[in-house]
Amino acid sequence: MNYNIALISGDGIGPEIVAEAKKVLDKVCEVYGHTFSYKEVLLGGASIDAHGVPLTEEAIADAKASDAVLMGSIGGDAKTSPWYKLEPSKRPEAGLLAIRKALNLFANLRPAYLYNELKGACPLKEEVIGDGFDMIIVRELTGGLYFGDRKTYEENGVQTAVDTLSYNENEIRRIAVKAFDIAMKRKKKVTSVDKANVLDSSRLWRKVVEEVAKDYPEVTLEHMLVDNCAMQLVHNPAQFDVILTENMFGDILSDEASMVTGSIGMLSSASLNETKFGLYEPSHGSAPDIAGKGIANPLATILSAAMMLRFSLDLDKEADAIESAVQSVLTEGYRTVDIMQDGMKQVGTAEMGDLIAGH
Ligand code: NAI
Ligand code: MG
Repeated sequence: MNYNIALISGDGIGPEIVAEAKKVLDKVCEVYGHTFSYKEVLLGGASIDAHGVPLTEEAIADAKASDAVLMGSIGGDAKTSPWYKLEPSKRPEAGLLAIRKALNLFANLRPAYLYNELKGACPLKEEVIGDGFDMIIVRELTGGLYFGDRKTYEENGVQTAVDTLSYNENEIRRIAVKAFDIAMKRKKKVTSVDKANVLDSSRLWRKVVEEVAKDYPEVTLEHMLVDNCAMQLVHNPAQFDVILTENMFGDILSDEASMVTGSIGMLSSASLNETKFGLYEPSHGSAPDIAGKGIANPLATILSAAMMLRFSLDLDKEADAIESAVQSVLTEGYRTVDIMQDGMKQVGTAEMGDLIAGH
């Protein structure tokens, strides 16, 4: 099949890690007989340098015209980069928020998977780690507290600030459907996280999630309060398969989940809209401290490309092949410096890409 992929190399280590993901995708095309046509799209600092703004209408149009977007990461060193002398709305990160909004990417998926070989980097106790864990957090990304009305006012000399947390049933339903669809491709368990003992928005969340669950009789649904979930992630992470939650809870829990794996250079992410379209990027940033040194770990980006194949292009077999290649290369003992351990073989960015493509 022929697919159109928008490629955002971005800033810092972005171009280095995206080049390796493309190397792996080229191999997928060769082995499975697909054709991927790439369109380079500028975002963030690279777009500021070329056009004076972090996102152009042309970039949005190119992204919309593609089947999926694969991105490195954007942004620079806030202390030294001239991009941060600009006002906040003109800085690299503003471009990322704007493209997410323009593409209506309401579903943010972040897997937290612990490789056997990287258990040494996991900060949890051995008895908690057990056989490891493999979960994915499905976070609502365009509603709730971060998008509600807000104001700060003063009355009788006292300042008050108000943020509004609101969800309508359609917003809840579409993210729930995503979570259940994903659960069908995994262990068929959804943990919906809310604060239904306190919040009206959470009570509506629970009601709508239960309605959606009726369409997925094979999937087990459980509800968990967010404070309990925060504890369970470090107490017994293996209990989770798909965690479904609203914007702010998902923001906090997904950072917590990524830290318990102990290796940010390994974690992929996807942001999806109502169609099959999505934007795929590593969970980490542009790592300006190691840019240009050829030592960045490309695996989070390569695994993001695998997610792209699975979720936007329906190429499950090909996605599995990439994921098992990553597993094999780790088993063989190859490591970039960020995940290096005693007795392992240290490799650079390009060599790691070659190894994955080779497998
Ligand atoms: P960061 O994730 O870029 O780096 C944190 C630490 O992890 C650094 O020591 C870095 O060297 C290391 N690291 C990150 N990715 C790595 C990889 N693939 N291989 C090896 N080591 C890796 O976070 P930081 O330093 O807070 O942000 C740097 C820039 O990235 C900022 O401009 C920030 O705004 C931007 N950023 C962009 C994101 C995006 O494009 N979605 C997300 C987060 C931050
Ligand atoms: Mg966050």
